Amino acid sequence: MFFNLQPCFPGFCVCVCACVRARACVRVQSCHATKPNLLNVHLVPHTHDDVGWLKTVDQYYYGDRNDIQHAGVQYILDSVVDQLLKNPDRRFIYVETAFFYRWWKRQSADVRRTVRRLVDEGRLEFVNGGWCMSDEATTHYSAVIDQMTMGLRFLNDTFGPCGRPRVAWHIDPFGHAREHASMFAQMGYDGFFFGRLDYQDRSRRRIAREQELLWRASDSLTPPMADLFTGILPNGYNPPEGFCWDQSCDDPPIRDDPDLEDYNVDDVVKRFLAIANTQAKVYKTNHIIMTMGSDFQYENANLWYKNLDKLIRYVNGRQANGSRVHALYSTPSCYLQELHRANLTWALKTDDFFPYADDAHDLWTGYFTSRPALKRYERISNGNLQVGLRGPQWSDHRGPQGSDHRGLLSGKAMAVAQHHDAVSGTEKQHVADDYARRLAGGWLRCQVLVSNSLAALSGSTAERIYCDKLNVSVCPLTESSSKFSVNVYNPLARPVSWPVRLPVNGTSYKVSDAEGRSVDCQVCVCVCCPLLKTVCLCVLVLQFLRVTFDPDTGLLSGLSNLETKQTIKLTQNFYWYNASDGNNSKSDQPSGAYIFRPNSSTPFVISRTAKTETVQTSVLQEVRQWFSPWVSQVVRLHGDSRALELEWTVGPLPIDDDLGKEVITRLDSSIQTAEYFYTDSNGREILQRKKDFRPTWILRQSEPVAGNYYPINSRAFIKDEVDQLTVVTDRSQGGSSIQNGSLEIMLHRRLLYDDVRGVAEPLNETSALFPEGLVVRGRLLLSLDRPPTAADAHRPLAQQAVLQPTLTFTDGDGRWSPCLQFSGLQAALPPAVHLLTLTQWDEDSVLLRLEHQFQSRESKENSRPVTVNLQKLFSTLEILGASELNLSANQWKDEMKRFHWTPQTGM
Ligand SMILES: *[C@@H]1O[C@H](CO)[C@@H](O)[C@H](O)[C@H]1NC(C)=O
Ligand SMILES: *[C@@H]1O[C@H](CO)[C@@H](O)[C@H](O)[C@H]1NC(C)=O
Ligand SMILES: *[C@@H]1O[C@H](CO)[C@@H](O)[C@H](O)[C@H]1NC(C)=O
Ligand SMILES: *[C@@H]1O[C@H](CO)[C@@H](O)[C@H](O)[C@H]1NC(C)=O
Ligand SMILES: *[C@@H]1O[C@H](CO)[C@@H](O)[C@H](O)[C@H]1NC(C)=O
Ligand SMILES: *[C@@H]1O[C@H](CO)[C@@H](O)[C@H](O)[C@H]1NC(C)=O
Ligand SMILES: *[C@@H]1O[C@H](CO)[C@@H](O)[C@H](O)[C@H]1NC(C)=O
Ligand SMILES: *[C@@H]1O[C@H](CO)[C@@H](O)[C@H](O)[C@H]1NC(C)=O
Ligand SMILES: [Zn+2]
Repeated sequence: MFFNLQPCFPGFCVCVCACVRARACVRVQSCHATKPNLLNVHLVPHTHDDVGWLKTVDQYYYGDRNDIQHAGVQYILDSVVDQLLKNPDRRFIYVETAFFYRWWKRQSADVRRTVRRLVDEGRLEFVNGGWCMSDEATTHYSAVIDQMTMGLRFLNDTFGPCGRPRVAWHIDPFGHAREHASMFAQMGYDGFFFGRLDYQDRSRRRIAREQELLWRASDSLTPPMADLFTGILPNGYNPPEGFCWDQSCDDPPIRDDPDLEDYNVDDVVKRFLAIANTQAKVYKTNHIIMTMGSDFQYENANLWYKNLDKLIRYVNGRQANGSRVHALYSTPSCYLQELHRANLTWALKTDDFFPYADDAHDLWTGYFTSRPALKRYERISNGNLQVGLRGPQWSDHRGPQGSDHRGLLSGKAMAVAQHHDAVSGTEKQHVADDYARRLAGGWLRCQVLVSNSLAALSGSTAERIYCDKLNVSVCPLTESSSKFSVNVYNPLARPVSWPVRLPVNGTSYKVSDAEGRSVDCQVCVCVCCPLLKTVCLCVLVLQFLRVTFDPDTGLLSGLSNLETKQTIKLTQNFYWYNASDGNNSKSDQPSGAYIFRPNSSTPFVISRTAKTETVQTSVLQEVRQWFSPWVSQVVRLHGDSRALELEWTVGPLPIDDDLGKEVITRLDSSIQTAEYFYTDSNGREILQRKKDFRPTWILRQSEPVAGNYYPINSRAFIKDEVDQLTVVTDRSQGGSSIQNGSLEIMLHRRLLYDDVRGVAEPLNETSALFPEGLVVRGRLLLSLDRPPTAADAHRPLAQQAVLQPTLTFTDGDGRWSPCLQFSGLQAALPPAVHLLTLTQWDEDSVLLRLEHQFQSRESKENSRPVTVNLQKLFSTLEILGASELNLSANQWKDEMKRFHWTPQTGM
């Protein structure tokens, strides 16, 4: 079985044995008839249910803590189902499978039958359908694919093909990533709708009637593989002004008894027709959409539906008198079908929708970094989950008895964490704590899976210990035992060289590998801050890199790649932006969880000099730098590493200014960047950025720093003709290049004012360990390459940062274990191919995603198509058959038919 992988083609899924084909979804006529010669207004009843924000996901589900926010999702679904049954014309869409799943579990067979009928008849339609509505700026593609797969699988298992969403729906996320559009296209969606985009972009698109467009979301995939029809909703996701009939709104109901006082039908109809006609002027067809709902609405759905029934009746009643407007209950897929039928050509877009600004000084670029510890925890949790899911495939095909086969519990915690108020860092503190608690529960589940597989593989039942606090140099076993063994599990499908650092108590250790050969190792003494001394000259040189430091300042001053013989000037330092408190003449916007608004474009240096100390051995060289009591760094070079490691520790950020600080590190190099820099999109394809520039409109830049910030999920780089400096991050962060040759990354933020976007809390993190303010530690990897081969270096580095080796420990030397070494693969995968997913799917099949991880043209060697022989892949799985699925594994590839859309350029 051979599969061809084109550059950036992210996958296919395999199902062993006979794969059952289900019936297609056959619906007689679920969309209401429209009138070709009139303006058709598609009224879409909907609710926007955050999977955690001001309340936790479970508090939202039950309607607990209504003192924080009145919201109860269980009542919404109860009420909507009742109301749909009252009038077959009514429609509703539902989005977040995390909530729907909770509700469905508790329904009787009777209710389930009824709901199935509503779905079959298209009266209840699922849109989007992932576990949550993911954030687009701070998520990694692998976790997004997983959470979509989980939600869509539940819908398919429960409702079959009529439950499959046709439309992606991201009405609330704060900016939109190109990689998300590419993924949605490959998941088989016919179209995508969202609510938020830059205010300047919106006004231009309104005039040009380009609020509906065709997004070509990949440079590498052949059109139309990554083409996605994209619609921008007219009013965010809210109803038009004056037409909110939820119990949470104050707009007047339709009072239609002429015998009573205050009869207002004429007034309501007149206002509605005016809004409809105005809206039609900024869209292209004789169909327009109105979102009739908002956050957590429809808890008492009768209010909405009773008034919508009347609105439709009275508006359409005017047609007898010559009105040209036709209102109807609709859904996004019914609306999309009409746009498709219109057979027009659509403006083509190839960049993304970042950054998002809703006004001149209101740039939503702070959340790219907000809650850096949660962002890191989410990222490593993803690695743990993948390791846990893979484990059973290597040992026992079916997994140990009673084990959590599909890793569902840990999967759910990760899926919820992708929500646009979760990993984004824009939730209240108690909700952030709840996400972290769920992820911690997921870790435990995954550790059980890994221990079980390792026990089966090694034939040893010795207790396995995990040291979750290695990031702060804590591991009770290695610190107390004189003899212990370390098991290193590499989840990547190729060998990696990975330094293992462990806290120990002795001064000399003998280390040997599985075959008894001795391993290079060094015991370093950790020196605490009071023992600082300044070293006159620091130069670090190992096999591949040479790093120089300025002897006067202790700062990094140069970097050379000894293989390619290139050298750049490079200084690095830490700075902070002074947050705006909002009280100035231009705007009253403060910096907060969402928004980055420094009150000066020049950041303050934390210290012009660093106290340093050097450790130099044959396998490891480090310069430890102290900048202030709250900023320090270890610059580290490992024996055979091609990347320089910068391990930063920042916090607690001082708040004696009663304002807050946003801390960056800035690399200033001799590279001639001409205002260009490059950032990744959800960890996958790279996008070019230019200072004070947007590819699709003429930008009026009003925030010279915040308006140039972009999300960095796994890497960013600057380059000129000869040098490329790449920074690989260990979590999502915001960053930019404000000066020629420089690249800055925001590491940590602490802000004492709320930025008035609803969260109503300052971003002022502390923890039990750090009551004075959160301390965060992280790692940046720097690599210097020639531009034509740089991708060959940074692609694998970025994957290694996501799927790090898992370490487990056992006391004693472990020599008696029958098997000390194992590989699940017959051979390493080619460099271009990444093993993205391997997990149990059902009793006799696994889900496998192989990804071509290079973009077309970015590497001479690795951008070529690759062929993989599945039968020669695994050492433990015998492949009996395979079928290809779409990216989200909810449709067979050969049954995937998407609408075809024509771009204006005819390309
Ligand atoms: C339609 O027009 C007629 C004649 O002008 C008028 O009597 C009637 O009230 C109008 N009906 C509606 C629904 O406006
Ligand atoms: C769509 O438009 C094209 C060119 O304008 C035309 O050739 C084609 O027949 C139309 N398709 C339909 C289904 O009307
Ligand atoms: C470290 O070693 C010393 C001396 O051997 C011993 O007293 C101490 O308990 C050890 N520390 C730990 C954490 O085991
Ligand atoms: C930071 O800004 C505040 C006003 O917003 C100002 O009072 C303070 O002096 C500034 N800090 C520095 C170091 O300039
Ligand atoms: C800014 O203005 C707001 C509202 O007038 C006030 O509550 C707040 O205390 C002011 N902040 C500062 C730092 O003066
Ligand atoms: C921020 O946190 C610190 C430490 O807990 C606390 O003393 C301070 O009052 C908080 N400030 C605000 C504005 O919440
Ligand atoms: C170390 O990792 C743990 C999670 O395992 C995290 O909670 C903690 O914040 C990290 N510590 C630092 C200093 O980053
Ligand atoms: C969808 O679910 C049905 C059962 O409802 C199953 O037979 C079918 O194989 C599933 N489709 C996919 C692509 O998994
Ligand atoms: Zn939301």
